[in-house]
Amino acid sequence: MDRVLNVVCEEARAALLVPVAAVLLYDERHNALNLAAGSGLPPELAERMKSPQRYLYEDYVLKGDPVVVISDLRAVPDRRVADLCLHYNLCTGAGAKMQREGQFIGVLAIVTTGGVRHFTAEELALLQGLADQAAQAITNARLFEETRRRLKFVQSLRNIDLAIAGSFDLRVTFSIVLDEITAQLGMDAAAILLFNPHTLMLKYAAWRGFRTGTIERVRLRLGEGYAGRAALERRTIHIPCLAESERDTVQAPLLADEGFVTYYAVPLIAKGQIQGVLEVCHRSPIDPDGEWLEFLETLAGQAAIAIDNVALLDKLQRSHLELVLAYDATIEGWAHALDLRDKETEGHSRRVTEMTLRLARALGMNEEELVHIRRGALLHDIGKMGIPDSILLKPGPLTPAEWEVMRRHPQYAYEMLSPIAYLRPALDIPYCHHEKWDGTGYPRELKGEQIPLAARIFAVVDVWDALSSDRPYRPAWPPEKVRAYLKDEAGKHFDPRVVEVFLKVLQEEVLEEEAHGN
Ligand code: C2E
Ligand code: SIN
Ligand code: SIN
Ligand code: FE
Ligand code: FE
Repeated sequence: MDRVLNVVCEEARAALLVPVAAVLLYDERHNALNLAAGSGLPPELAERMKSPQRYLYEDYVLKGDPVVVISDLRAVPDRRVADLCLHYNLCTGAGAKMQREGQFIGVLAIVTTGGVRHFTAEELALLQGLADQAAQAITNARLFEETRRRLKFVQSLRNIDLAIAGSFDLRVTFSIVLDEITAQLGMDAAAILLFNPHTLMLKYAAWRGFRTGTIERVRLRLGEGYAGRAALERRTIHIPCLAESERDTVQAPLLADEGFVTYYAVPLIAKGQIQGVLEVCHRSPIDPDGEWLEFLETLAGQAAIAIDNVALLDKLQRSHLELVLAYDATIEGWAHALDLRDKETEGHSRRVTEMTLRLARALGMNEEELVHIRRGALLHDIGKMGIPDSILLKPGPLTPAEWEVMRRHPQYAYEMLSPIAYLRPALDIPYCHHEKWDGTGYPRELKGEQIPLAARIFAVVDVWDALSSDRPYRPAWPPEKVRAYLKDEAGKHFDPRVVEVFLKVLQEEVLEEEAHGN
C-alpha cells in the first residue's frame, strides 16, 4: 500500500512539475484527512501532519468541488497553517478528490514553492486523472489487504473450531483461543475468566502476556471489577485509557502493575448463559476499527461455545457414570438375592465372578470384555427366578418333568436380559453357560467354539464351585475329586484349553495361600 502511494506522489510531481505532492486519506471515524504518503514534503511538516487533519476535510473537501486550488497557502484564514506554509515557503496548493464508486477515499495534493503559480485547466484535469488512477490503485490494494486479513481471521476461527472439536480439554482450547487473539488482534495480553454459577464468582482460567503471577489468586464477584461488570451487564466493556478511567479498586491496581493502557472485557455467553469473560489488554493505546471488534466478539463467541460444550460433556459423562454405578449396584443386589433363594453359601456369586474374571484374564481377554463378563457372571443364574421353589430347592434328584423346567433357566435369562441394551453384551454367560463342548448341553446344543468363550470359561468355574459346595441334593466334593472331574470332562463338557489354564490358576492360588501361611 505504501509503495502504491509513493508511486502516485512521484508521478504527480513529475507530471505537473511541482516540488511537493502528497496523498491524504480519508479517515471515516475522525472525519478528517490523514497524511498517508508525501514526496518532497519537509520532514518536520510531514511529522506535524501525522495527526488527523480535520480542518482540511471540513474547509476543502466538504465544499464540494472535485478539484480545489488555493492560490496562496500563506494567506489561508487558519493562522497556524498559514505560518507553517510561510515557514516552509509553500505557495500554491491544488488538491483533487480521489473517489471510487461514490466513496470518498482521499485527496491527491500538489504544492508549489518559491512563488504563486497558476495551474491551467489541462494541468488540473491531469491532476484529476492521476487522482482517479490513484483511487483505483488504493481500492485494489485495500481489497487485497482486506482479503488477506479476512483469510487470516477465517483461518483463526477454523483453528479454534478444530480445537473445540478435537479436544474436550478446555485448557487446550483456551490456549489456542488466546494465541489467536494475541496474534491476530495484535494485543499484548489476553485472559479468560470462568464463571462459577454456584458461587457467582469469576476466576482466571487461562492467560497470555501477563508479567505478574498475581491474577491466579483473583476472584471477582458478578458485577465486581471491569470483568465482573461485563458479565453482569452482558456487554463489552472498553477502557481506552486505564489511567484516565474511574478507578476500579478491584482490578485497576493489577492492570496498572502490568502497565496496560487499553482494556476490553467481552462477556462469554452461550445459550443465554454467562460462561465467563474474555479480557484483552494492550500496553499502548490502540485505535481498532469495526472489523477488529467484530473479530474479537466472534472469538469470544467461540470460546463460550467451547466452554459450554465441555460443561455439557462433563455432565453427560457424570450422569452416564452415575447410571452405570446404579446399574452395577442393582446387578450385585440381584445376584445376592439369587444366592439367597438358591440357598447358596454366602458369597457364591462373588466367588464364581472373581474366579471367572481371573481365568478370563489368564486367557488374554481385554478389560472391556471383562466388564461384560463380570456382569454376566453375576447374573448367570438370573433365569432361575423363573424356576419354582419346589424344583429349585428339591433335596433329591429331579424327575424328567422337573428337569425339563430346570433346563429352561438359560432361556429365561435371555428373555429377561436381552431387552436391556446395557446388559446385552453380558448375555453370553447367562444364556450359554450350560452348553457343552461336545454339543450335548442346553438350550441350543452349541458345539466347540460356537459357544462364546465367556460361557466356556464360566462353565468350568460354575461346575467347580457347584461341586465344591453343599447342594440341597448332595454334599460338597473334596477338592481332588473336583479337579479330577474337571480333567475328565475336558473335551467332553469343557473346552480343554480352558480347563488346562483353570487348573494352573487353581494351582497358583494354592501356592499363594501357602506363601501367606494359610
Ligand atoms: P448347580 O447346582 O449350581 O450346578 C451347576 C452345574 O454343576 C450343573 O449343571 C452340573 O453341570 C454341575 N453339577 C452340580 N452338581 C453336580 C453333581 O452332583 N454331579 C455332577 N456330575 N455335576 C454336578 P446342570 O446339571 O445343568 O444343573 C443345573 C442346575 O439344576 C443346578 O445348578 C441345580 O440348581 C439344578 N440341579 C441339577 N441337578 C439337580 C438335582 O439332582 N436335584 C436338584 N434339586 N436340583 C438339581
Ligand atoms: C446360583 O448359582 O444359583 C447363584 C448365582 C451364582 O451361582 O453365582
Ligand atoms: C446354573 O448355573 O444354572 C447351575 C450352576 C449354578 O447355579 O451356579
Ligand atoms: Fe445355571
Ligand atoms: Fe451357579
